[in-house]
Amino acid sequence: MAHHLSANKEEGPLKNIVGRSLVIQRIKDLILQVADTDLSVVIYGESGVGKEVVARTLYACSHRARGPFVKVNCAAIPGDLLESELFGYERGAFTGADRPKPGKFEIANGGVIFLDEIGDMPLTLQSKMLQVLQDQEFCRLGGHQEIKVDVWIISATNQDLEKAVEEGRFRQDLYYRLGVIKIYVPPLRERKEDIPLLCDYFARLYSRKYNVSDFEVPRYLVDLFMKYHWPGNVRELENYIKRLVVLGDFEEVEREILSFSKALFPPKPSYPVEDEFLRKIAIELARAEEGHLALKEVKKRVVALVEKKIIDIVLKQTEGNKRQAADILGISYKALLYKIREFEEMEI
Ligand SMILES: Nc1ncnc2c1ncn2[C@@H]1O[C@H](COP(=O)(O)OP(=O)(O)OP(=O)(O)O)[C@@H](O)[C@H]1O
Ligand SMILES: [Mg+2]
Repeated sequence: MAHHLSANKEEGPLKNIVGRSLVIQRIKDLILQVADTDLSVVIYGESGVGKEVVARTLYACSHRARGPFVKVNCAAIPGDLLESELFGYERGAFTGADRPKPGKFEIANGGVIFLDEIGDMPLTLQSKMLQVLQDQEFCRLGGHQEIKVDVWIISATNQDLEKAVEEGRFRQDLYYRLGVIKIYVPPLRERKEDIPLLCDYFARLYSRKYNVSDFEVPRYLVDLFMKYHWPGNVRELENYIKRLVVLGDFEEVEREILSFSKALFPPKPSYPVEDEFLRKIAIELARAEEGHLALKEVKKRVVALVEKKIIDIVLKQTEGNKRQAADILGISYKALLYKIREFEEMEI
């Protein structure tokens, strides 16, 4: 079935999701499979990976595209306000409610409600949400009339909801209700093959928007982008290209990306390493994985780490006597001094 569905993938709304990586293709397939169901969807992923793009595409691919798409940012609105925002209120429901107001659920009737940053919804409101989802009915604040709506609920979060459930910050029953379908959008650094395509796409988009002709992202910058770790994901890349289209400050951007790459905090090894020495080596490997070190450089640094470790061991044995240590190590005294200075310079 997925095969059949993918036939016309590059037509229609799906083309708004730019990328050729396997994960992006899988996400597109999944979107087609669930677009015309009303199974609740939770979209996970770091900031700027394109969660909202996925939500809007789900909507655009569904028959609900003729209805409204209503976005509610659960993190931006304080708890009490969020409740009245979602469910609306009647006149006199609270001080200041001088006229009735429909909530986002009512406004989204026949379409999609997109609950952004769902992980930040306060627990009290989570209970009410659960009730509404179970009964498929609710009342406006201060109202008595049951309201029934037909809304597809799509949520997004950059939090680990399972962890939030474990820590008691998110209701497990609501978690199951909201996330019948889960879509994980991986960070850009884990799908670097999408970078050239995104560069072209944003270059075209913004050169049209800002009336700049013949703009292209130079090859050396695309190559550099492929090595960068993109903490801000696609949004960060998009902003760089916007800026390049308008300012054309290629060298400045190159310098910036290079300096950000170097000033990087040491990356986290992907597995736990207790021993300090092994941890340092794991950091070098993680750096290499993220594309910050050429293989030659990795070799130099890892070898230096091992050498330093051995020299430290021998120096301990000789109680700090360097001449004796050099003898044991089979190198000249001068070579040993040179190495120690080199390690200091490399800050290892
Ligand atoms: N695959 C993609 N193709 C085209 N544009 C994309 C893609 N992914 C992200 N973008 C663009 O990158 C920007 C950030 O995407 P979006 O707002 O969807 O991210 P997000 O995951 O919702 O981020 P946040 O968690 O910060 O809200 C938007 O301008 C969006 O248009
Ligand atoms: Mg978003």
